[in-house]
Amino acid sequence: MTTTAKPDAVGVARTRIEGRDKVTGAARYASEIPFTELAHGWLVLSTIARGRIRAIDDAAVRALPGVLTVLHHGNAPRIKDDVIGALGRPDPIVEVFQHDRVPHAGWPVALVVAGTSEQAREAAEALVVTYDEEPHDVSFDADKEGAYVPQDAETVKGDVEAELAASTVVLDAAYTTPEQHHSAMEPHAVTVRWDGGRLEVFDSNQGSKWVADDLANLFSLDLSAVRVRSEHVGGAFGSKGLRSHHVAAVMAATELQRPVRIALTRRQVFAITGYRSPTAQRVRLGADADGRLRAFAHENRSMTSTLREFVEGSAGFGRTMYDSVAHHSVDRVVPADVGTPTWMRAPGEAPGSFAVESAMDELAEKLGMDPIALRVRNEPTAGPISGLPFSSRNLLACFEEGARRFGWADRDPRPRVRREGNRLIGTGVAACTFPSGAAPSTASVTAEPDGTFTVRITAADVGTGARTALTVLAADALDTAPERVHVRIADSDFGAAWVAGGSMGTRSWGWAVMAAARDLREQLTLRGTEIPAAGVTVTTNTAELIAQLAQKERYAFGAQFAEVAVDVTTGEVRVTRLLGVFAAGRIVNPLTARSQLVGGMTWGLSMALHEEAVRDETFGSHVGADFAGYHFAANADVPVIEADWVPDEDPDDPVGIKGVGEIGIVGTAAAIANAVWHATGSRQRHLPIRPDRVLLAEADRAGHDA
Ligand code: MOS
Repeated sequence: MTTTAKPDAVGVARTRIEGRDKVTGAARYASEIPFTELAHGWLVLSTIARGRIRAIDDAAVRALPGVLTVLHHGNAPRIKDDVIGALGRPDPIVEVFQHDRVPHAGWPVALVVAGTSEQAREAAEALVVTYDEEPHDVSFDADKEGAYVPQDAETVKGDVEAELAASTVVLDAAYTTPEQHHSAMEPHAVTVRWDGGRLEVFDSNQGSKWVADDLANLFSLDLSAVRVRSEHVGGAFGSKGLRSHHVAAVMAATELQRPVRIALTRRQVFAITGYRSPTAQRVRLGADADGRLRAFAHENRSMTSTLREFVEGSAGFGRTMYDSVAHHSVDRVVPADVGTPTWMRAPGEAPGSFAVESAMDELAEKLGMDPIALRVRNEPTAGPISGLPFSSRNLLACFEEGARRFGWADRDPRPRVRREGNRLIGTGVAACTFPSGAAPSTASVTAEPDGTFTVRITAADVGTGARTALTVLAADALDTAPERVHVRIADSDFGAAWVAGGSMGTRSWGWAVMAAARDLREQLTLRGTEIPAAGVTVTTNTAELIAQLAQKERYAFGAQFAEVAVDVTTGEVRVTRLLGVFAAGRIVNPLTARSQLVGGMTWGLSMALHEEAVRDETFGSHVGADFAGYHFAANADVPVIEADWVPDEDPDDPVGIKGVGEIGIVGTAAAIANAVWHATGSRQRHLPIRPDRVLLAEADRAGHDA
């Protein structure tokens, strides 16, 4: 085995391996890979929000230039409707063209396939679909009837009502967050072809084996008959699993026996690829005069579709955060005639932290305590509910470092005392946390005769830098230079692996890669230096290794600091500083890790001030479902964001990575809302903090003052 002097690979800032390919356009995304004989599919989405398809008149459309076929419930093949995949049942929207029912606006009712994308689109827009409409209800609020508690969605410790009654200070407040959309830079796209009896899928997804197996099961194919690849992905954030366009494309490629591509438009991405449910939350906190929590109560409500129960589990946030004598947390869901919500960056924690961390700030105000001191006072030594030890919990170190860097000690705690012209200035903090899990994955590492190594794992690099991190981890375990390691990812033929989700990707894949690499290194030591032409390969699955990890509370933590300037004449809130300090385990690549954290915090800012999907109750569909109508933070809205971390070693974890994909968005909106209170003296409990909400608060204040 050829080795070079080992450079420090882990912990050194490193640009993305594929970065040059991406910025020069050499990297090909799912809708850019050329195929001969390629046909283009265009989905037709329902214009009604509930009812039945009466008729689809496809004859006229079939006669239009270039049209190859029109698929709908009247002619599409049957697929299985009881598939349970690696992450549960696929979103029911994948069961396209199986019946005449329309459960929500934007339900796919037909696919038009033509020789060019333009022909397909023109024909799709000409397709006449008539419906029998039924009344629909897309509304959501805190009091809507029909809400229920799903399984395992409620946690009770002690008697919250009794402890609230015994508390010196009680806070009881309601918070809401609106429907939000991921809408990644790269819209969803897939190209499908049959190749020698195998279904070949070129996709943009978060897990190629996951998508391949779900697709195989839906079409009753052998798992080995489906190959999915997803070489480059322009963002995913929870929205890129198997969806309706995959299934429609397979149907069309099967009928036509030629490659079929479906690339969604931005509006279609909004309509059919999932979103974050709105939430309505109530937080009740009871404390002694010294700030010790007696009662912690968090009730959350979110929306789901009539097709499937999806829970935006916001009530989970407090279960690891704070000690209290009594605890009650519960998620409820209420169905509506809408598409099924899905995972979106920090599902549960993002909206949950807004409510709880705002409430903690309000409690601190009532107690006359510093908000950081209140959190220190209620810092648990073990899991507040589980009693399990924390693998590591360095939240207080994050607050200490953050407070030092932000200059928190100099803060005047009184609200509405700093003014610069028309602008009121304020600062706020919030805590954040996100679970740190690992899931079984398979990795192969091959020692090549030329002294290089090839790693194969069905990882997905959705823009996180996972490919680069895995290269560095493999090099470290092989005791070689990263330049000698070639990592190949995102091919379902490489075997089962965890998806790019739950902030568990790099940890789960890294574990498998490291285990295989170490194994290989040992084998090579035993064999000597002879490498046969085929190389020497070791394949490892981590299921047993992960099962051996001690039962502990494994979470990343962080402290978010924000400064805002609020223009009280226009209602505009500008975030002028944002600092996040995180305890997120071992940082493999500081450059891409920081980029993940800053990206999450940017989204948190966007969530605090801008993002809000609006449904038209008459039509049941979104208003302005595009990048003009769905307002989100642009460059000019975002200050220089600082993200950093404190040492957070976990001696009994062989990987030590905690994941940084999601924690950056957690708590950010609360820190900003708390800063808005500090600036203006008014609480903003409903996101986004729009100018009209700020002006309304100012008007209320003027009314009270008068
Ligand atoms: Mo994510 S919401 O873990 O893809």
